[in-house]
Parts: sequence; C-alpha cells; structure tokens
Amino acid sequence: MRKDIEELSSRTRAPRRLAMMSAVISAGIAMTSATADAGTIEKRDFGKLPDGTPVFEYTLTNAKSMSVGVLNYGGIITSIKVPDRDGNVDNVVLGFRKIDDYATKNPYFGTITGRYANRIANAKFTLDGQEYNLAANNGPNSLHGGQKGFDKQVWDVKEMPGDGSVGLELAYRSPDGEEGYPGNLDVKVLYTLTDDDELRIDYTAVTDKPTVVNLTSHSYFNLAGNGSGTVLDHKLTLNADRYTPVDAGLIPTGVESVEGTPFDFRQPARINDRIRESDEQLVYGRGYDHNWVLNRPNDGSLALAARLEDEKTGRIMEIHTTEPAIQFYAGNFLDGTLVGSAGKMYRQGDGLALETQHYPDSPNHPDFPSTVLRPGETYKTTTVHRFFTDKI
Ligand code: BGC
Repeated sequence: MRKDIEELSSRTRAPRRLAMMSAVISAGIAMTSATADAGTIEKRDFGKLPDGTPVFEYTLTNAKSMSVGVLNYGGIITSIKVPDRDGNVDNVVLGFRKIDDYATKNPYFGTITGRYANRIANAKFTLDGQEYNLAANNGPNSLHGGQKGFDKQVWDVKEMPGDGSVGLELAYRSPDGEEGYPGNLDVKVLYTLTDDDELRIDYTAVTDKPTVVNLTSHSYFNLAGNGSGTVLDHKLTLNADRYTPVDAGLIPTGVESVEGTPFDFRQPARINDRIRESDEQLVYGRGYDHNWVLNRPNDGSLALAARLEDEKTGRIMEIHTTEPAIQFYAGNFLDGTLVGSAGKMYRQGDGLALETQHYPDSPNHPDFPSTVLRPGETYKTTTVHRFFTDKI
C-alpha cells in the first residue's frame, strides 16, 4: 500500500466513521461493520421499479478510501470510487442517478450480464440434439441474455462483512425456460471489496438440466472520472495474441492473430491511436467491440487480462481473471442521448467495457471453449479488478 495513503486513511478513518454514524441516525441508513477499523456496508433506498418492487443501493467501503455501490436490481455496480495520484477520490464508472433510468434505458451500465453475456447468433443453439430458441434483441441475434436478462432481475442480497474486506452475495434463480434457456439455474455473484483496493467478483451457478452459461460484469470505465469526457486517450494493454474477428452482426467468424492489426494491444497503446483506421473489423463495430483470446494457462488460475491507465489522473486498473477471453467495447454506441450520474451527457467513447467471459456465440462454435453446464457440475469463475496509481 502507498505509505501516504496509508497514513491519510488511518488518520481519516475515525472521523469518517463518526460522520457515518451520525448519517445512520439522521437518515435511517443501515450500516454494518465487522470491527471498529474495518470497512463498512451501508444500505439505502434507491426508489421503486415500475411494478413497485423496492430497490436498494448498498455501498461497500474499505478501510482506505475506496468504495463500490451495488443495486439489488441487476446486481448493478453504480459507482467505483478510487483515489487518483494526489488522493482525490472520484467515481470511475458510468451510471445513472435514478432507478427509472436503469429500468428503462440502461445500455448495461454496471450490470451482471447473463444467462449468456454477449451474442448468440440467430438467437438459437442446439444442445444434446435439441434446438433452443431465444429472444432476438439485437437484430437477428440474442444479446446479453435476451429481453429480460440477469441485468433486469431483482437479486437477493446478503451482506458479507469480513476481515480485511467487505462483501455482498447476490443470488438469483433463473427459472427453466426463462428467455428460452433450459434448466433452473441458481446463480450466485459475490462482490468483495478488499482493503488492498481490489474488487473481486466470484460467480457460481448450478443447473438441473444441461444449459449454457456465460456471466460477466458490464461496467463502463472512465478512469479520469465518470462524465469527464472521452476515455479514448487511456492506454490499454490486453494480454492476448489472438482475437475473434466478426461478421457485420458482430458474430465471431474464427480466431486470428492480432499481429500487424489495430487489435494488437500487447504493448500499452492509446485507444485513440488506431480506432479510426480503415479496417473492416473496426467498421463493423464502429470501433473496438471484439473478443480477445487471453494468453493464459488452461488451469482456472487468475491471470492478467488487461491493464487500463489514465495518464491525466495516474489511475490504473488491472483485470485478472480465470476466464479465457475478454470483450473490449469502446462505448461506440453511446450517442449523446443519455444523461448519467455525474449530470453529464454521454457521447461515443465516454466509457469502455472490459468484459471477462467466454467467446461470443460459443454454443454455435464447437471449436471454442465450452459454455455448457450440466447437472452436478458447478460453474465457477473469478475476476479481480485492482486499482492503484502511477505514484510510487
Ligand atoms: C457489446 C456491444 C453492445 C453493448 C451494449 C457490449 O458488451 O459488445 O456490442 O452494444 O454491450 O451495451
């Protein structure tokens, strides 16, 4: 841990706690804390869904200055607040202020995305000889679980105070046939915020019929701060020698080397540098909206997938995952029609998603790593977001 932040946080911890305690008394906010010096979990009302279901926002705060906001609706991450190189804390993910916006026009800001994150071609797949038809919600394809994916479900939330961390366990039962997918699927997503400024996401799922599962977290990052403008000047590194080129509907057509293409991020590169190159793949995605095949052992270990750096603020995020791939989406479809939680309108490239997952359309590509889950098996993946700055 950086010495100056350590000193600062230990100095400010006690007053912060006092301030929070008085907030508890005056505003009726519920707060849980494991020990006097540990992180905290706060819960507050976040309005109601159109059908009257109450929505809550939980805020995990670690023993330093990092915090993460999470809704029981869609498991949505509403904020990730981290310091810059001078200790100024800002929210580095896009979002909305009101539940109505999340419920009616969310382009998956911060969501848990499933049952199948990313696209399934022609909204159908065959498993064990049986064809399953899904909702087509992206041209002829199914995107991010269909019309009402996991991003639009209400999850049960359990607070998980810990030692050196605070967490939330979200649970959802996706019934057999929901959005066309077979099998009752019991899903758990555990968000853990550690005192080392890591947000760890553990996903597990079990099914009672063979099905397909691909879960991810869909935050749009802007390390210079939510609503601060473009993210395309950030430097990105992707630990991937290969990617999956797509057709015009963004369905993978195979696996290719990144060598000599604008998709080579093996060395840190500014996203802006090549995003406007005359390349059919970039035209299809209106920029980067592709799946990179990670360089990693096939052993379920956590391996470095991506590193994102903003030179203006010095903020750096590393992503480590057990997943075989990552979708890098440069916010190409943000078009100035949404006003976000910073009170600013979002334009193209004002946030980017780095979604650890299996390859898109795997159920229709027997040569891709399998996304099939069978009764008796447990789907289990982990992704860790590490935040730090360039100040040594
Ligand atoms: C996809 C984009 C899509 C976006 C929706 C991303 O995961 O790759 O194509 O537009 O999600 O918000």
